[in-house]
This record gives sequence, structure tokens and C-alpha cells, in this order.
Amino acid sequence: MIIEPKVRGFICTTAHPVGCRENVKRQIDYIKTQSSSNSTTAKTPKKVLVIGCSTGYGLASRIALAYTYETATLGIMYEKEASGTRTATAGWYNTAAFESFAQQDGLYAQTLNGDAFSKEMKEQAIAKIKQDLGKVDMVIYSLAAPRRTTADGTTYTSVLKATAEPFVSKSLDLRHNTIVEATIPSATEEEIEATVKVMGGEDWEDWIQALVDADAIEEDAVTIAYSYIGPKLTYPIYKEGTIGHAKEHLHQTAKEITATYENHGIHAYISVNKALVTQASAAIPVVPLYISLLYKVQKELGTHEGCIEQICRLFNKKYIESAPQVDEAGLIRLDDYELDSKVQKRIEEIWPTITTDNIKDNADIAGYWEDFYTMFGFHIAGVNYEQEVDAAVSIPSILP
Ligand code: NAI
Repeated sequence: MIIEPKVRGFICTTAHPVGCRENVKRQIDYIKTQSSSNSTTAKTPKKVLVIGCSTGYGLASRIALAYTYETATLGIMYEKEASGTRTATAGWYNTAAFESFAQQDGLYAQTLNGDAFSKEMKEQAIAKIKQDLGKVDMVIYSLAAPRRTTADGTTYTSVLKATAEPFVSKSLDLRHNTIVEATIPSATEEEIEATVKVMGGEDWEDWIQALVDADAIEEDAVTIAYSYIGPKLTYPIYKEGTIGHAKEHLHQTAKEITATYENHGIHAYISVNKALVTQASAAIPVVPLYISLLYKVQKELGTHEGCIEQICRLFNKKYIESAPQVDEAGLIRLDDYELDSKVQKRIEEIWPTITTDNIKDNADIAGYWEDFYTMFGFHIAGVNYEQEVDAAVSIPSILP
């Protein structure tokens, strides 16, 4: 079939297998150009579990680890294969591509598709680790999920709302590329709690406990979860919003995991990453406008990075020597370039002046959309989108 992008608000309901493959290949090629011999990584990760491995930061982590250290990766994702006239999701195609490149290059790469929050998925992953790898020495936690069903059958749905009072802000209407005034309502206590249940650290801790109980994690393993803080401008919707409460819980969980498993030598870290266009961030009100300003300013200053550049810097520059470089709160800061005062001062200057008429000049709207389409395998140079392609692509390790 001929596959075209079908954009509905902040999501694209189709994905292109050839474009996604090219996207994965470019990330692999980028890593191959980065010399790992300069890197003095604390401890070379050899067997890594990547929870949320198929898109965004998790995919970049999987690629960076595999192609820097020849790391064996077991990935967990929640993606859909193609069926009838529906294409598979981008994460499905990315994973099919990653596994096939890894196979060609003699790297271990296996994937489990299903709900990472469930007990069944934890059991499956542990069985796979025990069978193929013995134990893992690193766990990357990179889930971005809208809901979670806990063991007692309760389903919690996360919301992206303010908490103190409704937040009125400029926002980008992604359907028309216009600036609108958005009012983000304030969440109820239950909504805050539900968001913490989904995006906080409870499930991360459950994973580590399940791995320890099953003796499927090395004594001195490291686990890293990804977080975001952002600038003052977005505090009401992010840091002080429902999602920020969840991230605060995640940060506390890192301390708890490290303390609980001290005798085991397991250390949990939070890496605070840069705001980037991913399927998760596109859904947050106000953030797409902020991202398009951020892209504009950082590209002008030469400090712009995508997921792969960020994660490459994590392992080559931050997670080094005897322990990762952390700030006074114990966080790894990959958002250092984003929060640089030069960058934020410029954004604060532009923000009040931005209108629908001048948005193309003052914000990198083109860059925003380029990343958006790329995420689904579209708008990629060298890919012939007029050519018929088979949407049914199998993932080697998930073949029936
Ligand atoms: P993403 O949407 O690109 O990736 C989410 C991943 O989670 C996918 O692999 C998906 O298949 C998987 N997933 C979702 N629900 C699942 C479930 N129930 N079971 C198994 N897998 C599931 O998201 P992104 O942006 O890469 O986010 C990953 C982490 O990075 C999140 O914690 C996010 O808050 C954080 N982060 C994101 C930033 C951004 O600007 N995009 C900035 C800083 C941190």
C-alpha cells in the first residue's frame, strides 16, 4: 500500500515502515560516529533491560547502548502491529528495524510487547532474562503512558493539568499553527494521585523488586529513569502540574530504591532530559510552543540536540568515572543546555511577542513539524513515499 501521514491533532495515526527504518539507521549511524574510546563510562553496561524501548528516549537508549558497548538489550514496549488497512505503530516499525540491524551486527536484541505495568509482563521479562542473559546489569525506565492498571484491577488515568489554579497561557494550536490562549484547568486531588500512580515511581520500584526477588539483576546494577523539569515559563503546566507531581514521586523513588537495595549495591538515578518532540510531549498543552521556541534558540546557538544526541551525551559525558555527574539534588542534568540562562533569557524575550503572524519567524515551527513527521517515518529524505510498501512488518523476536 501507499502510506501517507494522517495527522489528528497531536498524533499521527499512520506510520511508514521504510521511513522508520531510515530513522533508526540514522540514529545508529550517529552513534557510530561518536568515539566510545574517549568515553570513561563508569561501568560498561553489558546486559540491559529497556522498559519503553520503541520510541523517543527509550529507543535512543537502546541504540546508544547497543552501538557504543555492544550491549545486549531486552526491550519492553506497548505497540501495535499492522492489521487490515491499518499500519503498525511507529514504535513497532522502529523495533523491527532495530532488531534487524542488531541481528546483522551480531548483537543480542529481543523485545516483549505488552503492558509493562502488569505482573505478567514482569514475569515474562524475568523468564527471558534468566533464560538468555542470566542477570541484567542496567535497567532503563523510559515509560510514557496514559494509564495503568494495578494488580487489584484498578485503572488509573493520568491527566495533564495545572494543580494550584487554572493556568492561562499562550499555546500553539497544532491543527492550524496558530497562537491561541489556552486555559488549562486545575486538577482534583484524585487526578493528581492518578497521574502519580501512572507516571510516578511505583512501577519502577516494582520492577526492581521483581528483578531482585528473582535474582535476575546484578549486585551492583544501575537503574536510570528519565524525567523533566523545564523552565519557570512552563512550571504551572509541568513542574507544578500533575505530571510534575508524578516526576517528584519518581525522584523520591530513585532515593528509595538506592536505600532499599543498598546491600545489593543497586543504584537508582534520575536523568533530567531536554524537552523534545516525542509522542508523549506533543500531548502536553503549551509545551509544543515552548519546544518550537527552544529549538529556534538552541539551533541558533548550536546547542540543539535530539534524543540520540542527548542519550549519547548521557553515556559519554555524564555517566562517567566512578559515579555519574549529578547536581546537588542528586540528579543527572542533560537539560543543562536547555536551561542555560542565555537560552531561557532569549525565550522569555520572545514569548510575550509571539503571535500567529510572526510565529514562523520567531519560533522553529518548521523544525517542530519536521521532528513530528520524522517520528512516524515521514518527510525523510531519500525515502520514496510514492512506492507501494508492505505495512505488515514482523519483529524477529516477536514472530509467532
Ligand atoms: P515516548 O512516547 O516516545 O515513548 C514511550 C515508550 O513507552 C514507548 O516505547 C512505548 O511503547 C512505551 N510504553 C507506553 N506505555 C507502555 C506500557 N503500558 N507498557 C509497555 N510500554 C509502554 O516517550 P518519551 O518522550 O521518550 O518519554 C520517555 C520518558 O522520558 C518519560 O518518562 C518522559 O517523561 C521522559 N522525558 C521526555 C521528555 C520529552 O520532551 N519528550 C523530556 C524529558 C524526559
